[in-house]
Order: sequence, then structure tokens, then C-alpha cells
Amino acid sequence: GMVDAGPKPLQGRKVIVTSGPTHEPIDPVRYIANRSSGKQGHSIAAALARLGADVRLISGPVTIPDPVGVTTVHVETATEMLGAVEAQLPADIAVMVAAVADWRVAASADQKIKKQPGEAPAPLALTENPDILKTVGHHAQRPKLVVGFAAETQNVETNGRAKLERKGADLIVANDVSPETGVMGGDHNRVNIIAADGIDVWPDLSKNDVAERLAALIAARFAG
Ligand code: CTP
Ligand code: CA
Repeated sequence: GMVDAGPKPLQGRKVIVTSGPTHEPIDPVRYIANRSSGKQGHSIAAALARLGADVRLISGPVTIPDPVGVTTVHVETATEMLGAVEAQLPADIAVMVAAVADWRVAASADQKIKKQPGEAPAPLALTENPDILKTVGHHAQRPKLVVGFAAETQNVETNGRAKLERKGADLIVANDVSPETGVMGGDHNRVNIIAADGIDVWPDLSKNDVAERLAALIAARFAG
């Protein structure tokens, strides 16, 4: 079938992919999260598998199905996602696509927080989540190729390049996620590929076509 067609440049290579949002509990019924459908990360996982890779997809909560030909691990929080990623090391390549919540609730409640009618709610104290990409990019068992994303609403290239350096990534896929672009939740994406040696601006593509091109680029960079 289609899954088996074509050359297999990543045959035998282990690749970790993160995808989707994370959910950070406030109490048993409420959470904070980033907007993310998981479409781009899941399609990248599938595209890498079609190139022969042994893909370990660490997925936050999404409504789309697990990709074909991929081993999927389901997690909820950023802390769980980091643990699941580190449990897959060593690996050859890591592609961190997840829209990880930057903060979690410092002390989530064991019981549902009841509203007090007419009273302002207590403020939520937040604490910073671990940075999974940065951890992997500086890890003792760092994969040979580390790829991140940068979701920006302005200054896409400057912010993307800062993330490349700060997080120890080889490539950053920077995209404009302003509401007017329709990228969030939609089926297309417009990305800039940022590397230490330059930037490549890709045209407007479907998320599947971004995945195909990125998987091919990853295979070429890994070989080179
Ligand atoms: N990322 C991660 N763990 C986090 C936050 C981000 O692994 N706790 C990864 C994302 O998967 C992505 C990259 O880091 O590959 C950039 O995420 P982004 O949210 O754009 O960057 P941040 O460093 O969180 O900065 P900010 O949200 O302030 O722009
Ligand atoms: Ca962030």
C-alpha cells in the first residue's frame, strides 16, 4: 500500500515527535491549554514513518486519530510529555511540534472548585513548565538532529532565530499563527525554515505538504 511505497532514507532510525497541546489541570474538571489540533505534528509523524523511520509520537490530548505506522504514546500535561520524551532517548532525531502550555497551575485542586456566586474567583498562581525542546537540545543523549517549531504572531524570523539558539535546535520551523492567517485549526500552513546558515521561506502549503517537505529535509540533513 501507500505506506510502503518509495525510498526509505530513514529506515532503522528512531525519531521522537511531539504533537498537540498539553492540558494543565486547574481542578478535576478544568484545565489551561494552548490551541492546537495536532494536525501538523501528526502528519509529520506519518510522513517520517513513510520514509522508514521508527516514529515514537508523544501526543497531548487531540481528537484526531493516531497516525498509521507510528507508535503513539498519549499524555496530558507538559511534565508527562517531558517524561515520555526522555523515556524514548536515545534517539536519532527529535521533532518537537507540540504546543506545550508554558505554565501550569502551581497547586491544582483535588476537588472541583465551587464558584461563590457574586464573588470574584481567587487568582490562579502559575508556575513555568519544563521546556521539552530545550531539554532535548541540551541533553547528554541529544539526538543528532533536533527540530523545533516557533509559533509567532509577529517578528517571525527574529523570534524563530532566538529560539533556535536558546533551545539548541538545528532547525526551527517558524510560522505565523495570527488569527487572520487561519493556520490555527486549519489545513494549511506557511512556514519559514530557520537554520544556523540561513532561512528558507516556503510557500503556502497544506499541512500534509509541509509534512512531506519537512520529512524529506530532515532525511537530507540527517544524512548530510
Ligand atoms: N516547547 C517545548 N516545551 C515547552 C515550550 C515549548 O518543547 N515548555 C517547544 C515547542 O514544541 C516548539 C518550540 O519549543 O517546538 C517553541 O515553542 P513556542 O511556544 O513557540 O516557544 P516558547 O519558547 O514557549 O516561547 P513563547 O511561547 O514565549 O513564544
Ligand atoms: Ca510557548
